[in-house]
Amino acid sequence: MKIAISGKGGVGKTTIMALLANHLKERGKDILIIDADPSPHMAETIGVKDVEKITPIAEMKTMLVERSGKTEGSPFYNINPQVDDLLGRFMVEHDGMKLMVLGAIQEANGGCACPENTVLKRLLTTLLLSPSQVVLLDMEAGVEHLGRGTIATVDQLLIVVIPAQSSVRTALKVKKLAEESGIPRISFVGNLIQDQEDKDFLTENLDLPPIAFFPDSTLIRKTERRGDPIIKANQDMEDAVRELQAHIPGLS
Ligand SMILES: Nc1ncnc2c1ncn2[C@@H]1O[C@H](COP(=O)(O)OP(=O)(O)O)[C@@H](O)[C@H]1O
Ligand SMILES: [Mg+2]
Repeated sequence: MKIAISGKGGVGKTTIMALLANHLKERGKDILIIDADPSPHMAETIGVKDVEKITPIAEMKTMLVERSGKTEGSPFYNINPQVDDLLGRFMVEHDGMKLMVLGAIQEANGGCACPENTVLKRLLTTLLLSPSQVVLLDMEAGVEHLGRGTIATVDQLLIVVIPAQSSVRTALKVKKLAEESGIPRISFVGNLIQDQEDKDFLTENLDLPPIAFFPDSTLIRKTERRGDPIIKANQDMEDAVRELQAHIPGLS
C-alpha cells in the first residue's frame, strides 16, 4: 500500500501523515515514510534526534546523475536506475518506523524528468510490498512537479484541506491534476476543524466529503512549539486518525 499526501503549504500534511504512520505502526504495520518535501521536516515531527545527520538523497547529485542521468551522447534518461541499495544507505530507523529523506525535486516544465524524480519513481515502482507494509509519501503542495508516471504509482492520495476558501481552491485543483495522473483513489482530509460549521463548509465546498476531520488542537500547537515530537501528543487526534484508517481501503 502506497499513500501520498498533498494540499496547500502549512495545512498539516506532515502532521497528519506522521500521526497516521504512528497509528499504523502501533497496529503492526511496517512503515516506510519518504519525505519528498524540499524543506523536509518529517524527521523532527516523528522525533528523530540527529536530524542533521540525515542526508537527503537529492543532495547526492553525482550519485543521482550516475543513476538516472543521460549517458553521454544519448538523448535518453535511464528509466531503470539501480536503486535497491538506496533504502539501506539513506534510511533511518526511529521508533519502529523507517524514514527516507528525498529532498527537493527540481521543477521543470511539464513534469520533471530530473534525476530526483527518476529515482523516486523507480523507488516507488520497485518496492514490492506485502500487505503489512505501508509506504507514506510526504510532499510539497501539489502533484504537478511529479511526472504522471511517478505519482500514478501510489494507491491513494490524501489531500489535506482546512476550512478556508484558499485551501479549498488548492485542494480542488490538486484533485483535478491527480485524477489526470491516474491515481486510483483520491480523498480529502479536513484539518484544523473547530466546529460543525467548519465541517459543513468543507463538505459543501468540496466535490467529495472529507473522509476524516482532524481537530484544531492546542496540544499539538504547544508540543510543536516546545520542539517535542508531535506523534507523542496525539490524544486529541486519535478519533480522527482511526476514522482516516477506516476509510482507506486496504488499511484495516
Ligand atoms: N490539527 C492541528 N492542530 C493544531 N496545530 C496543527 C494541526 N495540524 C498541523 N498543525 C500545526 O501547523 C503547522 C503546519 O503543519 P504541517 O504538518 O507542518 O503542515 P504541512 O506539512 O502541510 O506544511 C505545524 O506547526 C503543526 O504543528
Ligand atoms: Mg510538510
